[in-house]
Amino acid sequence: MQQKIVQFERVSLSYSEGKNVLHDISFSLAKGSFHYLMGPSGAGKSTLIKLMYLGFRGYRGAIRVFGRDLVNIHGDDVAAYRRQIGVVFQDFHLLNHLCVLDNIALPLRLKGESWLEARAKGLELLNWIGLKGFANAVPQNLSGGQKQRLAIGRAVINRPSLLIADEPTGNVDDENAVKLLYLFTELNKRGTTVIFATHNRDLALEFPQPALYLEHGELHMIFPCHERKMSSYA
Ligand SMILES: Nc1ncnc2c1ncn2[C@@H]1O[C@H](COP(=O)(O)OP(=O)(O)OP(=O)(O)O)[C@@H](O)[C@H]1O
Ligand SMILES: [Mg+2]
Repeated sequence: MQQKIVQFERVSLSYSEGKNVLHDISFSLAKGSFHYLMGPSGAGKSTLIKLMYLGFRGYRGAIRVFGRDLVNIHGDDVAAYRRQIGVVFQDFHLLNHLCVLDNIALPLRLKGESWLEARAKGLELLNWIGLKGFANAVPQNLSGGQKQRLAIGRAVINRPSLLIADEPTGNVDDENAVKLLYLFTELNKRGTTVIFATHNRDLALEFPQPALYLEHGELHMIFPCHERKMSSYA
């Protein structure tokens, strides 16, 4: 049987009394799969992603990632757990006291690589995402799209087994969005399980993959994400 990397079982969540953002949601992501996470603004995509990296714990039901029930992960284990996951946050979460190169190299440092090794790999990836000339800049001085590319570089530098991306192409132009999708697809081919929240239907149609569609707290699966089925959820 195919290994499940992420399993949600009857998960519900409400930030305030009486309003369920997620309602009784169950799904699983097989090892090596690629899913879009789609749905209107406010549907709960970022919330669902937050649950996967232990950014919020106030849910009912069960969530297992890499076979581990997240309720059992506490203290120092949280950081160790997060190191196995690459996360691209909707609002980037870059570290402004570090230069661009040290931001992208940070996951390798946290894994124990020397600065020399980590920076060499960081420079290579910065080159690939078109930010080599900004290695010594501080993130505050980057444009929105450049920050986003840096956030993606930092999330993938470790070749994580699970990559969770929240609107990773929201601030980049079409050409860069396609380039980033190639990067995600390449990582996926090498075994990374990917979940990719996006509003960009054109991109999802260009790189067809199954989609999880969230609306009114309910989750629907679309296999794969193609024009006719997508249009019924537009
Ligand atoms: N920390 C919070 N406290 C209270 N309500 C919240 C919190 N975070 C999100 N919400 C509410 O939960 C709902 C889902 O928000 P969420 O950010 O998950 O949506 P989304 O699908 O990611 O939207 P978008 O496409 O705009 O990014 C929204 O109604 C939002 O206002
Ligand atoms: Mg969101």
